[in-house]
Amino acid sequence: MAELVDFQNGKVICGRWKVSSQLGAGGCGAVYKVEDLFNKGFSAAMKVESNDVGNMGVLKLEVQVLQKLKDLPDAFRLYDMGKRKKYSFMVMSLGGQDLLNLAMKSPKTLSLPTIGRIGIMCLSAIKSIHDVGFVHRDVKPGNFVQGCTTGRLSRLLYLIDFGLIRAYMKEGKDGEMKMRKARNTVALRGTFRYCSLNTHNRLEQGRVDDLYSLLHVLQAINQGLPWDGIKDEKEIMKKKAMDPSIIFKGAPPEFVTVAEYLQTLSSTDKPDYVKVYKLFYEELDRNNVNFLTPYEWESKKSDVNTMVEPSKHERKTFQKDSEEKLQYRIYPQLHPKKFEDAGVQLKC
Ligand SMILES: Nc1ncnc2c1ncn2[C@@H]1O[C@H](COP(=O)(O)OP(=O)(O)O)[C@@H](O)[C@H]1O
Ligand SMILES: [Mg+2]
Repeated sequence: MAELVDFQNGKVICGRWKVSSQLGAGGCGAVYKVEDLFNKGFSAAMKVESNDVGNMGVLKLEVQVLQKLKDLPDAFRLYDMGKRKKYSFMVMSLGGQDLLNLAMKSPKTLSLPTIGRIGIMCLSAIKSIHDVGFVHRDVKPGNFVQGCTTGRLSRLLYLIDFGLIRAYMKEGKDGEMKMRKARNTVALRGTFRYCSLNTHNRLEQGRVDDLYSLLHVLQAINQGLPWDGIKDEKEIMKKKAMDPSIIFKGAPPEFVTVAEYLQTLSSTDKPDYVKVYKLFYEELDRNNVNFLTPYEWESKKSDVNTMVEPSKHERKTFQKDSEEKLQYRIYPQLHPKKFEDAGVQLKC
């Protein structure tokens, strides 16, 4: 068993990063909030992994993925990385709370339009990973983090934790990117509560499986899942094989349509993200909610909201815009057009 890396507050790494608190801890390491001693007032997140894990270490892979994401506007940045005698580390942008905390610790139950908006934010984050050629394989609430602690980015969710990620394409001899051949059986990667039935069947995961997990995440924070509390994998699989109308009971009706659409895809197919986006958006439309409407975890009195909502100046400048257009001026990342981007060009 690898020795856990446990840093005390105040510890300084490489003469630059001063640990100020712990953000999370996992099997082989931990994530800390760190202050940059070279840039006063700048904080970041440092993920640390024990070197005892040998070949099982995933930090190197996480660094590679962050490097690939560097040109995308809505991904965390990589600031530093390194290896010391006992541990390896990487330093990235500091996000806000993870979805597990936001959803489970929210004073109010999340409304359906909030679930729909979370769906769209998560879909955008998942698509970014797919666009650079990876299937995430561990889509779960703890792996979505607000883009920032305050301000407008706090209304976006970014996908983190690339320890189980796998490239679904590779460069062929001719230099063209090609789909990787699916293996016949694979070891299960992911989390029982959220993973797709295909994953339980030890099949190669594709982009579609990340979207199944997303639906399970949304239903988990909405009504709970029919397999909650069940430990036996075979029993969980029986529940996951049930009709989508039973699994997504109480959810916006479009979730069933999304699930039925996913059932038509194979692991090598590219999902139609715009289609899924539009289906998630239906619930917002029905309730007259958009991305400018506050979330349940935002207190109306909070100063933070003044940094999130459109300013008087913005409202005046764009007064001819409908509320729908204004939301996309402020959150261009969530415009349906963004979901059309081609991503990596593949020759299948
Ligand atoms: N960049 C970040 N900003 C803010 N919090 C983070 C960041 N990265 C990780 N965390 C927090 O630390 C937790 C664990 O990080 P994660 O990368 O998921 O590691 P693990 O492999 O242990 O699951 C996350 O669930 C989240 O709460
Ligand atoms: Mg995680």
